[in-house]
Amino acid sequence: MTRMSAGFQPPPYPQDRLAEIRRIPAKAGRELVDLSIGTPVDPVPALAMELAASLSLARGYPSSPGSVELRQAASDWMSRRFGVDLPAEQVAATVGSKEFVAGLPGYLRLRDPSRDVVLYPAISYPTYAMGATLAGCRAIAVETGPDGELELDSVDAALLDRALCCWVNTPANPTGRVSGYEKVVRSAREHGFVVAADECYVEFVWDRPARTVLEHGTEGLLAVHSLSKRSNFAGGRVGFYAGDGELVRYLSEVRKHAGLMIPGPMQAIGAALLGDQEHVELQRRRYRERLEILMEIAGSLSLPARMPEGGFYLWVCDAGRDGFELAALVAEATGIVGSPGEFYGTGARNCLRIAAVSPTEKLRAIAASLK
Ligand SMILES: Cc1ncc(COP(=O)(O)O)c(C=O)c1O
Repeated sequence: MTRMSAGFQPPPYPQDRLAEIRRIPAKAGRELVDLSIGTPVDPVPALAMELAASLSLARGYPSSPGSVELRQAASDWMSRRFGVDLPAEQVAATVGSKEFVAGLPGYLRLRDPSRDVVLYPAISYPTYAMGATLAGCRAIAVETGPDGELELDSVDAALLDRALCCWVNTPANPTGRVSGYEKVVRSAREHGFVVAADECYVEFVWDRPARTVLEHGTEGLLAVHSLSKRSNFAGGRVGFYAGDGELVRYLSEVRKHAGLMIPGPMQAIGAALLGDQEHVELQRRRYRERLEILMEIAGSLSLPARMPEGGFYLWVCDAGRDGFELAALVAEATGIVGSPGEFYGTGARNCLRIAAVSPTEKLRAIAASLK
């Protein structure tokens, strides 16, 4: 018989807590439209499918830091998209970005065991805090200021001096805020921690040019990207990180020892997708239109909502209601199941996140049914 250990027990996966909410639409005579997870629903771009048909399944091991083609394609994309030029050696592959988000604190701690703090936005993607937990580090939630930047001045300097890294996510999941990097980069260089900028939604900035942290140089900075959202390629598990040459070299060596690698055919498809911007433009139009329809739906339900500055989530906060209450109300009136704000931080208990990942026609029909 196995005994329950006193060690780490994984918490329930947030979306698994929605079983009850998922039963509401049927009771209300509505079709369930599950928009609780930001998983793409639109087709993988045709160029990826064409390439997939012509690729032979590679027999040998793929490169862990990524093929020369993939790293060069990522570097070229950063140059075209942001005007940031860095050699392909300062880019390395990740198996989607989540494993890198979850693993980075552990790798950084191996590199500098004298530090043990991970800073992250108080309302954010839960994997930032989970990565700290998995590495046995302290996860310190940092509030966001009115400009969208983290208020690092409010954090004890002794904690900043022990920080391994600070996660920044812009455009932000779930809030849709887009922020600059000036303050976090300044604080990082003063206190010697790494800025890890999760830029996986960067193609979906709605009201200003897209930016990367690497506009501030590369020293102590990493930008993390993914093709999951950009190219509807979550199933291909292709991501990359780029920035500080010494850090990229160190991390890619450690990750090679850990056996982390993207399957070869997916690397080839990833390189081709990074070379194409047309499918991204199409996807931008889809998300934008759906966000506008979701705004209309929120308006019909008298829920306060604003167009996000970036990303593809509608973030609805209502001080008078709890997030599960909001989720139940929306599920009953529309069939849409969103994610209660508390999945992203205790300060978001009065919020609901709705991902624009339903076919547009379906959302249009819901909006029309509420008129
Ligand atoms: C903020 C953020 N970062 C990272 C990820 C991970 O995406 P992937 O592992 O598919 O690249 C997600 C996924 O939803 C996310 O919302």
